[in-house]
Amino acid sequence: MKRIGVLTSGGDAPGMNAAVRAVARSAMSAGLEVVAIRKGYSGLLNNNMFLMEPKSVSDILHRGGTFLQTARCLEFKEEAGVLKGVENAKKMGIEGLVVIGGDGSFRGARDLSLHGIPTIGVPATIDNDISCTEYCIGYDTALDTAKDAIDRIRDTCRSHERCSIIEVMGHGAGYIAATIAVACGAEAAIVPEREYDLNEIIENIKKGKKNGKEFNLIVVSEGICDVIAMAKKIEDETGIETRATILGHIQRGGSPTVRDRVTATRMGIHAVELLKKGIGNRVVAVKRDEIVDYDILEGLNMKKDFDDEFVRVAKMLSM
Ligand code: F6P
Repeated sequence: MKRIGVLTSGGDAPGMNAAVRAVARSAMSAGLEVVAIRKGYSGLLNNNMFLMEPKSVSDILHRGGTFLQTARCLEFKEEAGVLKGVENAKKMGIEGLVVIGGDGSFRGARDLSLHGIPTIGVPATIDNDISCTEYCIGYDTALDTAKDAIDRIRDTCRSHERCSIIEVMGHGAGYIAATIAVACGAEAAIVPEREYDLNEIIENIKKGKKNGKEFNLIVVSEGICDVIAMAKKIEDETGIETRATILGHIQRGGSPTVRDRVTATRMGIHAVELLKKGIGNRVVAVKRDEIVDYDILEGLNMKKDFDDEFVRVAKMLSM
């Protein structure tokens, strides 16, 4: 193998740049050429690519977002799109590819592998919801950003003796919500994996008020309910002024934490190691802090249990 490609796909995640840098420089160290593909799979379809130099990835390690830009490419979900991608990759001399993104992106990686371009998936999403890996690039930074935001909300909440409902991202998974609820001392974490009882939460808030509790924080994972309506109901039933804040895309940006930079670097190097051996159709993963890899289909079919310990802990420690 003489030349490989790299792209970022799906929602951006802090640490993607660190992964691209590790792929590019570890490949160059091994004597490989590296083609950067812009805007995910759509760059492959539109020939939006360039040959990298070592300096192409200078000064990006600490930056959020992805300097290659990213996209969710519908055309690549079709067989015709994949074939066009394979043709363009071959024309560009790309013999192996690293795709940094979420599980939607790994389906494309599998299709490319099956059509003769060995492709490796590197998991990056703030949601940490990719089943085959204990950790996804971007999760730690998103938690840190949410922690900073909620600590600020706590300041104002306490000053006004209010209740605050904070909606965090998660894409149908409660990892961010449950973890951040413990980290920020929230009264409750409402997650998609577990049923919740709003009346019980309201009763606890009332009980807290009687016991002199001055403010309340409730963390809700996106897509569960209308947090503004929830705030109104809590205010109506408890008599405590209640506000809702949707943290939104603030959670996706920012300079990656040490954990994200280091994990992204380890994963990027591992992906290149596989390609150097001519191995494709694998997804890189973290298992008990080791970097491992799985067949992409096997990885996509794995199940990740949601451990509700943090939901329980947040509730237990709320007094
Ligand atoms: O997967 C990352 C994520 O930020 C999810 O948490 C969220 O549901 C989704 O992407 C938002 O997507 P978009 O940026 O397209 O609005």
